[in-house]
Amino acid sequence: MSGLFSPFTLKSVTLRNRIAVPPMCQYSAVDGFTNEWHNVHYSALARGGAGLVIVEATAVSPEGRITPGCTGIWNDEQAEGLAKIARDIKAAGAVPGIQIAHAGRKASANRPWEGDDHITAGDARGWETIAPSAVAFGQNLPQVPREMTREDIARVTADFAAATRRARDAGFEWIELHFAHGYLAQSFFSVHSNQRTDEYGGDLQGRSRFMLETLDAVRKEWPEHLPLTARFGVIEYDGRDEETLQESIWVTNEMRKNGLDMLSVSIGFSTPDAAIPWGPAFLAPIAERVRRDADIPVASAWGIDVPAMANETVEKSQLDLVMVGRAHLANPHWPYHAALKLNQDRAAWVLPAPYAHWLERYRTSE
Ligand SMILES: Cc1cc2nc3c(=O)[nH]c(=O)nc-3n(C[C@H](O)[C@H](O)[C@H](O)COP(=O)(O)O)c2cc1C
Repeated sequence: MSGLFSPFTLKSVTLRNRIAVPPMCQYSAVDGFTNEWHNVHYSALARGGAGLVIVEATAVSPEGRITPGCTGIWNDEQAEGLAKIARDIKAAGAVPGIQIAHAGRKASANRPWEGDDHITAGDARGWETIAPSAVAFGQNLPQVPREMTREDIARVTADFAAATRRARDAGFEWIELHFAHGYLAQSFFSVHSNQRTDEYGGDLQGRSRFMLETLDAVRKEWPEHLPLTARFGVIEYDGRDEETLQESIWVTNEMRKNGLDMLSVSIGFSTPDAAIPWGPAFLAPIAERVRRDADIPVASAWGIDVPAMANETVEKSQLDLVMVGRAHLANPHWPYHAALKLNQDRAAWVLPAPYAHWLERYRTSE
């Protein structure tokens, strides 16, 4: 078996198949704490059969949240709630992962269904944002961030390390650093947001320094035998794509040499002026190139929701792991649906016995 339903081993961890639930913010936390919504949500996803379930972007500090509803891991009490989620995911046969994050200049925003824009100045729900340079993202996110001092940079790096320690102690077996989507780390890397003239800006080495130092700090806290991964926007679709890709491949190589085990290939989202060619599996060929040129296992998402297509990306060695996001919100049992569509035999069935027993001879009419 070489496709979607083959197991995947990274370090000492083996996933039962190549299907992963990518991090998806629920915007339903209070003061960073998870609650019954998250408990049920993540249990259902893990019972659905994916090999890996990654808990949503979880902030390393209060100001690193995207919205007031984002989860946090800046204190031990928050980590206790997350530990229950890790246990439940594992009990359902999936590997528990978590994405740790700092939203940078895109922080202090309203929930997507409440506007998806910056909380207006003077509203007590909002907070000061920080970023490499005092440059706003623009459009719906006009707040100008405060330029980070060296002390800020050292603190946030230490926050990532402390968050990693808590994630480890909470029982997560897979960590993903959020270096994508225009949030803090990506905004250090991108020329759209980094105008610094010190060693954290300027040339490629300077713009990569924050990511490399953060990776180093995290690696010291994360067990050697567990996968250390990052999500990174390797392309912006801003008209300078080849240059960005080459820079991204360089930094991915550096991160691999410094202990990164896998890259989740994504989009930069550093500028509102991007022309993204949305379409089925459109990022898979880019991920394949990163996999080859940076010599690292890759995952990717974005519109890979048809089982045959997902299977093909694995069979063609474009992806090692397929991230299926919104299709999992529509149907937490997407892996079962995929197993049926791909005519997998009983061994690939991914449902717990109380469901599987009944569905063995039952086929939906779809
Ligand atoms: C509700 C929602 C929340 C998301 N939150 C995150 C997040 O916390 N971290 C992240 O890296 N991406 C996040 N994303 C992006 C998804 O991980 C994924 O890349 C995206 O949904 C595209 O995959 P899909 O086409 O399979 O849905 C989110 C997407 C959705 C729909």
